[in-house]
Amino acid sequence: MLTPLSLLPGATIGIIGGGQLGRMSAMAAARLGFRTHILSDTPQAPAAQTANELTVGAYDDPTVLEEFARTCDVITFEFENISLQGLKQLEAFCPVRPSRHILETSQDRVTEKTRLGKLGFPVAPWRSVPDRATLASLVEFSFPLILKTTRFGYDGKGQFRVNATEELAALENTDLPYPLVAEKKIDFARELSVMVARNEKGEMRSFTPTENHHRDGILRVCLAPAPISPQLARKAQEMAEKLARDLGLIGLLGVEMFEDARGNLLINEIAPRPHNSGHWTMDGCPVDQFEMHIRAVAGLPLPETRRHSDVFMHNLIGPEGMACVPELLEENAACVHLYGKQEARPGRKMGHVNRLYPFGALPGPLTLSSLSPLEAEPIQN
Ligand SMILES: Nc1ncnc2c1ncn2[C@@H]1O[C@H](COP(=O)(O)OP(=O)(O)OP(=O)(O)O)[C@@H](O)[C@H]1O
Ligand SMILES: [Mg+2]
Repeated sequence: MLTPLSLLPGATIGIIGGGQLGRMSAMAAARLGFRTHILSDTPQAPAAQTANELTVGAYDDPTVLEEFARTCDVITFEFENISLQGLKQLEAFCPVRPSRHILETSQDRVTEKTRLGKLGFPVAPWRSVPDRATLASLVEFSFPLILKTTRFGYDGKGQFRVNATEELAALENTDLPYPLVAEKKIDFARELSVMVARNEKGEMRSFTPTENHHRDGILRVCLAPAPISPQLARKAQEMAEKLARDLGLIGLLGVEMFEDARGNLLINEIAPRPHNSGHWTMDGCPVDQFEMHIRAVAGLPLPETRRHSDVFMHNLIGPEGMACVPELLEENAACVHLYGKQEARPGRKMGHVNRLYPFGALPGPLTLSSLSPLEAEPIQN
């Protein structure tokens, strides 16, 4: 049964951001009979191709925001770099989900780590590095470390690895994008992530943890389920669910984690939106992360996250990724998703492919050479 606050088919969901996450959210919304309105700063928006309406303009322009918000019954977002002031303005017209307060937490790595720490979640040891003067004090910290911009980082951009004191000294004479945060480099056994959805009634569902592999800072491959013990999988899901509850989430949250050598979980970062590591759900589950996102913000029930297949997800990145598409289209049980981007620039996410496997038959473990979409044979460690 629908609650009084549930949106009915025909209602309009506003999505801030015009990228592939907005595109796939709009497709999920359409399946449920909703209309979507995209706000994008460029007309060449992948999401515009699958939505009903598009407003093009700056995310902090009050006139643009009002024009957009007047047509929406609820507003959500697919990317995180929206001004909080802008969101505040939108709230005067309709609910914004997830809330501005969660976005405020995830937008800034220092705020994020501080909040996670206060809530009792384990994170990698870190120090705030607001300016050049503070950089030198990192000699007292721990090497190797990673410096990251506190805001606007994605796909590993704005990160600097520092292995030893001499490298730190060299950086003191470099123009770095302060403010920064320094994190101890974790010698992780595995990178994991959990997608969790929660609606305003407090109903909550999390997907099985995924194992993620990056190269050059960009996510390449996800394995679902992650090949970990049922106990660790449960722990990761419980951690993500507790966080969603503690933050008062209404919507979807991606929780990136490291599993260290002793099997402890540390939270790397959170993203209150659909996440690349959740793309496997599109073909591995009856209700995927995008539909969960839409259901959660629209006040609809959240069904169980039952997986019907194991999935090996490959991102299709840049010209090399697109070059694989003809072959992938010939393959059985390979579900190809392309984002409608015109130009395949190096490093650009152009699409992804979900390869489906029976339960327990995922290839692996993986090495770097198997990160290419066409070389996914099982490789022994
Ligand atoms: N403290 C750390 N120790 C070891 N590896 C790390 C650490 N922080 C980041 N990394 C590696 O760099 C990747 C990108 O870092 P992070 O997720 O913090 O940045 P991002 O730019 O927001 O990336 P994305 O957009 O892919 O989420 C991580 O997935 C991980 O592989
Ligand atoms: Mg990340």
